Amino acid sequence: MCGIVGYVGEKQALTVVVEGLRRLEYRGYDSAGVAVVCGDRLETRKKAGKLANLEVLLGSDPLPASTTGIGHTRWATHGAPNDVNAHPHVSEDGRIAVIHNGIIENFAELRAELAADGVLLTSETDTEVVAHLLAAQSPLVGGDLAEAMRQVCRRLEGAFTLVAIDSEQPNLVVGARRNSPLVVGRGEGENFLASDVSAFIAYTREAIELGQDQVVALTPESIVVTTFDGEPAEISEFTVTWDASAAEKGGYDTFMLKEIAEQPRAVADTLRGRIGREGLLQLDEMRLGDVELREIDKIIIIACGTAYHAGLIAKYAIEHWTRIPCEVELASEFRYRDPILDRQTLVVAISQSVETMDTLMAMRHAREQGSRVLAICNTQGSTIPRESDAVLYTHAGPEVAVASTKAFLTQVVACYLVALYLAQVRGNKFGDEIVAILRQLSDMPQKIDLMLDTVEPVRELARAFVHARSVLFIGRHVGYPVALEGALKLKELAYMHAEGFAAGELKHGPIALLEEGLPVIVVVPSPRGRSVIHEKIVSNIQEVRARGALTIVIAEEGDESVTPYADHIIRVPECPTLMQPLLATVPLQVFACEMATAKGHDVDQPRNLAKSVTVE
Ligand code: F6R
Repeated sequence: MCGIVGYVGEKQALTVVVEGLRRLEYRGYDSAGVAVVCGDRLETRKKAGKLANLEVLLGSDPLPASTTGIGHTRWATHGAPNDVNAHPHVSEDGRIAVIHNGIIENFAELRAELAADGVLLTSETDTEVVAHLLAAQSPLVGGDLAEAMRQVCRRLEGAFTLVAIDSEQPNLVVGARRNSPLVVGRGEGENFLASDVSAFIAYTREAIELGQDQVVALTPESIVVTTFDGEPAEISEFTVTWDASAAEKGGYDTFMLKEIAEQPRAVADTLRGRIGREGLLQLDEMRLGDVELREIDKIIIIACGTAYHAGLIAKYAIEHWTRIPCEVELASEFRYRDPILDRQTLVVAISQSVETMDTLMAMRHAREQGSRVLAICNTQGSTIPRESDAVLYTHAGPEVAVASTKAFLTQVVACYLVALYLAQVRGNKFGDEIVAILRQLSDMPQKIDLMLDTVEPVRELARAFVHARSVLFIGRHVGYPVALEGALKLKELAYMHAEGFAAGELKHGPIALLEEGLPVIVVVPSPRGRSVIHEKIVSNIQEVRARGALTIVIAEEGDESVTPYADHIIRVPECPTLMQPLLATVPLQVFACEMATAKGHDVDQPRNLAKSVTVE
């Protein structure tokens, strides 16, 4: 939540910073602001609303030329999303400007202290206290902004990324991080700081991951990283594996449409290099040894939102293939219920952004209890992978649209790889069985491609139901989490009531919601092998229809058993039951995206949301 950019070098800082903010806007869009150092003074511009509002302001009230600057795009926590609360916040003497991501938990106490010292606080934010504290600290440490930052950070509680500039040190940008993300971009004669690499990827792919409780001081020629205590810190450098074009719309109207279309490639990339010559899995990056994997007697998946739905799907495969009991839990609930954990528990933390505070806190809790943590992540360079015992990257490429699409499919695939690897190492499945399942997985990119070729009628359906008051989704087995995901997509994009249910639960209450013309989307599994779940869901469709609701049925090619009860049918290519979520989710993503477009909503940046949820 909140996007942060800092630049120092030879270019016009404002251009770099605004371009970076454009790429980070998915992290929050309640307000945007910039500050630059020009001569011996600071200049700031900030505006409530999206970055476009700030750009209009910059057009009518331009900033002077400067080669040092910072910028912020906000997801409001403390204080309403208005101009005054927008970052940067500036010290009373106008010398120091600060931007912040996170929550400073002891801000009320610090605010009271500053007020008692006669400081006039003008905003409702927790951030502003940092600007005043830095201004107070600076003269005590000879005007050294980095040292002032270290001292101030030691007084702060909570999660924060802070970036500051000082008009008295014009070629310097100082950043600090605890729990919230901050990455350095190393350029030639210029350096960058940002919440994620997409902000500076157009200029450099060489990045440095900042550790916990570290301060970085950037000049055009140097990058100095220390701990909050001033000790030199070890840095971890990495090269970003994608380039700027991956973070562009590439001809699509929205990032979401592009990311939906990228799913075949994304799933192929999750599998790439992980299947060895004999068709068995080789997960070289798995830092857990075979002995440790054999000791596992329970798996707990922790995640939020869409990633949680991926975990719910994975549970079916994990238990089926490995026979290890598996629980799936919302990360935000996990550590507050005193879960039973020990060394034999493998906790799988799923997070696209690797920044989700709920997931980070849950996995820390698991590690404190001695459990091993395996992270399934997409983004490089943050705390969740660093604090895990093992990491499996999904390699989905940057996901910019706030609503998750390709991350979801690749998370399911990555979880399946973990399950199969466990089955392989522990001998729960014969080698030929593993090879056969991996072949099924390897066929999926092509099938997702086929699915995408046939979604035009789904768009028409979405437009036809644009005035519906509510949409229900039902499914059984892995179709149930697919239903939950379909409903979540519709809620977050189309801002309408949508709910997913286990189809069998319908008659235990939710059936009362059914009324004439209410659209109900039903996810039907493969009929092959006389599946009992298939038979049961066909009955459920009839129950829904009998009450006047309108049935939109997602069923396999050639499954005619559903035809008499379906008002509309969306066909998915034939595939085994456990693979079907990788296909059945796609039309639901398209449905939500099209519905939101028809309603005139911003598909990439739905209201009230942010891509990275870095506060609990
Ligand atoms: C919904 C969505 C969210 C995220 C959730 C977890 O479309 O994107 O529900 O899935 O906030 O995010 P990560 O995976 O970054 O931890």
